[in-house]
Amino acid sequence: MLDVNKIRNDFPALDQMVYGQPLVYFDNGATTLKPTVVVDTLKEIYSKRNSNVHRGIHYLSLRMTEEYEEARKRVRKFINAGSDREIIFTSGTTASINTISSTFGEEFVKEGDEILISAMEHHSNIVPWQILAKRKSAILKVIPMNDKGEIVMEKLDDLMHEGTRILAINHVSNALGTINPVKEIIQKAHKENIPVLLDGAQAIPHGIVDVQDLDCDFYVFSGHKVYGPNGIGVLYGKEEWLEKLPPWQGGGDMVEKVSFEKTIYADLPFKFEAGTANYPGAVGLAKALDYIDTLGKDRITAYEKELLNYATSRLSGIDGLKIFGTAANKISIVSFLLEGIHQEDTGMILDKMGLALRTGTHCAEPVMTRFGIDGTVRASLVFYNTIEEIDRLYEGLIKLKQMFK
Ligand code: ALA
Repeated sequence: MLDVNKIRNDFPALDQMVYGQPLVYFDNGATTLKPTVVVDTLKEIYSKRNSNVHRGIHYLSLRMTEEYEEARKRVRKFINAGSDREIIFTSGTTASINTISSTFGEEFVKEGDEILISAMEHHSNIVPWQILAKRKSAILKVIPMNDKGEIVMEKLDDLMHEGTRILAINHVSNALGTINPVKEIIQKAHKENIPVLLDGAQAIPHGIVDVQDLDCDFYVFSGHKVYGPNGIGVLYGKEEWLEKLPPWQGGGDMVEKVSFEKTIYADLPFKFEAGTANYPGAVGLAKALDYIDTLGKDRITAYEKELLNYATSRLSGIDGLKIFGTAANKISIVSFLLEGIHQEDTGMILDKMGLALRTGTHCAEPVMTRFGIDGTVRASLVFYNTIEEIDRLYEGLIKLKQMFK
């Protein structure tokens, strides 16, 4: 069992009043709060240990390089990748996806080829592929979802064929909470020789990622959604793929030898890390992953399931409330609308009650179009949230309904 009261003390942001009410933070899908250990690590680096990595022969630079490379090992272990060479630090999920859409696209996508995504993608897993499709005169195809917000697997079979170059899909939907059957999807894709990129932005904080077990070709995520710093992210790629891809950006640190005639690129993973790395971010991320492992991934999953079940049953009991995203396999996200009340009004009034929820399309506009709505109110819950906070949301919604009567 998690000791949630003790855990909450690790997150100072939880201990504050908003509009005279104790804050209830249910916007974890957008970004998670930071434990003290992460904030302290950043403070220590910037105040004492800051020095550029891979460049200096002096004490501070060598120590910082060691810490940065230790952080890479830490990430590898957390997602169970086979080698440190497969872990590229980026600025976040978006940069990671753009790295692959650009480099894989440059090398392997040609006119008339197809790129497959799903109907429940975040914009960051749609737009880069659209840009690529336009650049290469390729075709973007979309796997549909059903009314529960689940991938229609039979359609996936129909959509994959010889001309499909890559399949890019989220592990977990940020708008609906669906956990996609990615292992099965990857097996199907590999039978057709199609590599798979998984957008893991929403899966990583819930502790359900093992890239070797999934056998995905690329896995991407952001540090700030997993209790780590902003501006750091990860691109995992199978070595065999990363070796074949050209670099995305050119600059310092990604080169072995440079002359005006020719440049020899650095080996993996540095080939994809041009410019000064965000080493404080990487080290802070490693601390966040340590923190999660101390709590225990299994315990986190079990507790968040409990929160999801309670929130689903409590909110479903409200007359006129409809939940969007009722997949059998979900993480702790509840996206909903109250009949006759606009999602933005709901969000704004809940805010005045001290409740932070996200409203709108959640950067997944096609999901909203699929359901014929312009947005939802989203409660995304994590291990520092409590049953009492869900009760506060329930009571807030009842009050709000009375106000609109
Ligand atoms: N992608 C983030 C969200 O789902 C910002 O809110």
